[in-house]
Amino acid sequence: MSGGATTGHVHTHLDGAILSVRLDRPDKKNALDQPMYRALTQALTEAAAPSIRVILLSGAPGAFCAGNDIGDFLRYAQTGEGLEDTFAFMTALGALDTPIVAAVDGLAIGIGATLMFHCDLAFATPRSVFRTPFLDLGVVPEAGSSLLAPLHMGQRNAFDLLVAGAAFDAAAAERTGLISRVVGEDALEATARQAAERLAAKPPEALAIARRLLRGDPAALQARITQELALFEERLRSREAREAFAAFMARSS
Ligand code: COA
Repeated sequence: MSGGATTGHVHTHLDGAILSVRLDRPDKKNALDQPMYRALTQALTEAAAPSIRVILLSGAPGAFCAGNDIGDFLRYAQTGEGLEDTFAFMTALGALDTPIVAAVDGLAIGIGATLMFHCDLAFATPRSVFRTPFLDLGVVPEAGSSLLAPLHMGQRNAFDLLVAGAAFDAAAAERTGLISRVVGEDALEATARQAAERLAAKPPEALAIARRLLRGDPAALQARITQELALFEERLRSREAREAFAAFMARSS
């Protein structure tokens, strides 16, 4: 890939060794639909090239990501189809070796929040809010978060975020280790880019080895993602979930 490309509300841009990936569906608060997941998985695949050292991930002003598109959840609940790209992305995320630096401004919900556990450095503006309404939607935590969250934040904070569904403001996210640091809106992009540049300048082999060591056993992570997805699929078809999705869609229409 060279220069920039846009696929399904996802912009990618290669600048030296840094692959910038920007979510851009602001009218839906950057909820991820299937083409967006497909574009994200494609970006992760491309980032495996040795010439790419770091992924820099960002969203729209005020909306980093509002989670999986609930319309897609509802369709899956009714037909058992249409979330293949969601599942493929989560699997690819678990297998990724390239470091990710995140720049978060605003809402980070569902996968928008659990993505943080795969971002090696994460910066967020003071108005950012992290929340996972999994239980309220009748589903369960995903993307390896049930394994990674207790490691990153401790059991209590992980429970609060993933099960109780508490909203973490930027300060709480920093305090609990969900993100690296709160930075002002004006400084977000530059701070994240500089951090990505510093990482990209490290000896790449040593960086890859060190990241793998810190991530822990990749087989355990992949096994947990698979286990979560099996439960997630089952829960998507439950009455609790179908009612929650239908209520959200009715509210939107
Ligand atoms: N799936 C589908 N559409 C979504 C969405 C999602 N996850 N999140 C937001 N949208 C849509 C809304 O339906 C609305 O569409 P419309 O303008 O066609 O009605 C648009 O994005 C703007 O959202 P709105 O709810 O009006 O904005 P808000 O600022 O009042 O609230 C949220 C933003 C993100 C708090 C709220 O939209 C929300 O709770 N979304 C669901 C988040 C969620 O549960 N994600 C799944 C996690 S597993």
